[in-house]
Parts: sequence; C-alpha cells; structure tokens
Amino acid sequence: MLNHHGSQASDGVPVTVAYGDGIGPEIMEATLRILYAAKARLAVETIQIGQSVYEKGISSGIEPVSWDSLRRTKVFLKAPITTPEGGGFKSLNVTVRKSLGLFANVRPCQSYAPYVATKYPGMDVVIVRENEEDLYGGIEHRQTDEVTQCLKLISRPGSERVIRYAFEYACRYGRRKVTCLSKDNIMKITDGLFHRVFDEVAAEYPDLTSEHWIVDIGAAKLATSPQQFDVVVTPNLYGDILSDVAAQVAGSVGIAGSANVGNQMAMFEAIHGSAPRRAGKNEANPSGLLLAAVQMLVHIGQGEVATTVHNAWLRTIEDGVHTYDIYDPAMSKEKVGTREFATEVIGRLGQRPQKLRPVDYPAHVPPISVSLKPRPRARKELVGADVFIDWSGTADAIGKRLEGIAAPNLRLTMITNRGTKVYPGGVPETLCVDHWRCRFESADGTGRVTHRQVIDLLSRLVEVDLPPIKTEGLFTFDGVPGFSLGQGQ
Ligand code: IPM
Ligand code: MG
Repeated sequence: MLNHHGSQASDGVPVTVAYGDGIGPEIMEATLRILYAAKARLAVETIQIGQSVYEKGISSGIEPVSWDSLRRTKVFLKAPITTPEGGGFKSLNVTVRKSLGLFANVRPCQSYAPYVATKYPGMDVVIVRENEEDLYGGIEHRQTDEVTQCLKLISRPGSERVIRYAFEYACRYGRRKVTCLSKDNIMKITDGLFHRVFDEVAAEYPDLTSEHWIVDIGAAKLATSPQQFDVVVTPNLYGDILSDVAAQVAGSVGIAGSANVGNQMAMFEAIHGSAPRRAGKNEANPSGLLLAAVQMLVHIGQGEVATTVHNAWLRTIEDGVHTYDIYDPAMSKEKVGTREFATEVIGRLGQRPQKLRPVDYPAHVPPISVSLKPRPRARKELVGADVFIDWSGTADAIGKRLEGIAAPNLRLTMITNRGTKVYPGGVPETLCVDHWRCRFESADGTGRVTHRQVIDLLSRLVEVDLPPIKTEGLFTFDGVPGFSLGQGQ
C-alpha cells in the first residue's frame, strides 16, 4: 500500500497509522510530514478507526482488517478518536490497549521553561500507568433500583508487569527513583496488592530509590513539588488523572505524548483527546502526537531520527514559534497554525536547541521486555460467603429473617450497607439503601464451608423471596483471609 504521502520507503518499518477524529487528521498529517522530512524509514499502513467506523454500525469502532494490520505491524501511531457518548459504545482506546496487551502507558511530563509557561521549570516526571485493569475493566452493573457497581480488578501479573516495566525503564533511561502511588490505606486488598508487588520488585533494584505515597497526598505533591518525582508507577485510573495533572502542570496536556507498550506490540498517541471544537481550523498543536511519534522512532530502532526530530521540535519551541494553546505574548514570538508549525519544525531539522537541553537517543535501544517471576499458587479454602440482597426495609428486619435461614450449617455474622456494618448493632444515622451485603460463615466450628452449603443457602433465600443479586465466596489463601472486614466491624 502506498502511504499518504506517496513516499513509501522500501526499507521502511511497517507501522499502522490511524488519522482519528476531530483534530486527529490535522495533527497526524503534520506529524507524518515532519517524520518523512526527517527521513524516518516507515512503511505506513493506514486504517480507519473511530467515528466513521461507529457510524457504519460497528460498535467496537474498529474493523477486523484493522486488527490484522495491527497484529502484522505491531506498531501503531494513533491520532485521538471520539467515542460516541451514551450507551453501547466502549472506548476504542481502552479496547486496543487491553486486546493487544499494552500493559504500560508511559507518559513523560516535562517542562520547557521559560518557553512554555509553567510554575515548575525543572519538572521532568515520567508516569508509568497500569493500562489494562483496575476500574478500566469496565465491568459495571446496575444491581438494584438504587445501586450501581463497577468492579475494580487488580491482578498480581498485571501489577507485576507494569511495576517491573517502570523499574526497567528507570534503569534504561538513567533515572534514580521510582515512586508508587496507591490508596492502600482504604483498598487494602486491591491497592494493597499493587503496593506489595511494588515493594517486592523494588527489592530487586537496590540501586534505585523507591518510595510509596498514598495517592491523595502524592497527587498534591505532584501538583506542587513535581521536582520530587522521577518515575511514577500507579494503577490505571489514578494514572489517567495524574498524567493529565502532571502534563498540565509541566506546561500543557497539548504537548505530552505517550507510549502504550506490551511485550509484543506498542501504540503511540498524544495524551489529549480529539478536541472536536478545534477540528478543521488548522489551530491544533501537533506536539503531543509528534512526541509520541518520537517515542515510536526510538521503539522501532530509529534513535537517530528520533534525536533529529525531537531536537528540531525543542528548537522550534525555544524560538518562540507556538500554536495558540501555548502562545503567550510575553514569551512567544510567533503564533502559528498546525501546518505552519510543522513547516517550522521541518525547517529546523538538523538543528539543536540552544537553551533547552538537547536529547540524544542511542541509535538502537533494545525494547524493554519483562517477565514474571514464577511463584507457587496459594492454598485456597472456602470459609464463607457474602450474599448481596436487594431489599427495601430495615437492617434489623432483614437480619432477623436471615438468622433463621442461615442455619444449620452457616451463621449470619454481619450485614453491611454500602460497606458499613448495620447488623448486628447498627446505628440509626447510617443511610441504608436497597442493597445489603450479608456475610455467612461456618457454623460448625471448623471454619470451613462447602460450595454446596452456599448453593443450598441461595436456594433457601430464593424460596423466601429474598433473591440474591450476587454472591462472593470468602476464601483464605494459605490461611490468610482474602476479604475485607465491614466498616465499623
Ligand atoms: C487517556 C484518555 C483515555 C483514558 C480515554 C479517552 C479512554 O483519557 O488516554 O488518558 O481514559 O485512558
Ligand atoms: Mg486521560
């Protein structure tokens, strides 16, 4: 296939390109023009994704032939797309990340002071965001008239591979410190696992400093003293939020690129969205996508081209040639549109910045690949069940009914409402909605429960018109409980 510019290089590295929606086509056009002018060796395959595909009635936003291209080239340069609002449409970004196993989302957030206004001239933070799980599992349910739920899944392999990636990245790029952000004082089991795996992996890198902050204070510090951070690794949702904060604090979300990397494939994109209101006006800043493309060039072993492009971009920025989003009359010299900005960068290919620090990528950087440490599986035992019941009434009323239904094998040990213990011994101030988590444990002193006993309990509940919404088994792992207490228990 001939690429967009008709300049297919015979020795080009196959790369899949999507022009995306909104400002996507303009910034992709600008980016590719710069890459070709810098003599990047690319064999581009263009695919359609996003709006035009959704409009064909394909709810995933991507067609099978596009997957074929991605799985063939294993490298994806992607402009932002617009996910239709409302029911039925899942974000294609997330689909691609998860389907292709792109487990680490690497988002460098750097300031370019004084040429791009920032309060933190020295900021140079790389956020490594877990990219496949957490609340982005997208497993949501409406369970009762009043209650909805989203499952937060944190796995050991998912945590371990992104955390190992963060440490390997730090070593590879000469960074000194890796900071983990989580909320494990509240989510002791899920975020607790992420933190524990971080501590385990950190112990294998004694030459790097490692630290953990609870994400709220960590976020506050990132926004007010970012120079304290170097590489940050964090679960998916915190990483989503914090990378926008960090990029904006560094200067602008408009100039941050990102690499979504897996062991086999990688996708490169700007961290900002498709900005439909700016579309078609030749205003958008292509820098986020361009810097993502620089990450791509490093990834495909064209470090010298990456160096040329990045330095020309830095020179353009320090020369005060700015798009509207970073234009500041005090510092900028010229306000340019998307196309003109690209032309200015092309005009500086071969030049290096004189004030900002130039970059020098090694000609060939072997890709970071991580493997998981084998470990024995824990011995798992069923010791009870949390049965969630849809019920409109008081805690005492449901509690009294369930006491009788639990026997003879099981006993009701507590009921919580939205996680707070309300039976036995609740207080009238606690708001109760129509969603009750009822905990049943062994009644025979062994501590053990069988699946059959739980199934029998569920049948008895159905018979008395208390149909369960769902059941969670309570397990111990090597004797350690794998479930949380009720708030107030
Ligand atoms: C990002 C974006 C995406 C995300 C959206 C568009 C699905 O905000 O890349 O940070 O939430 O990950
Ligand atoms: Mg985001």
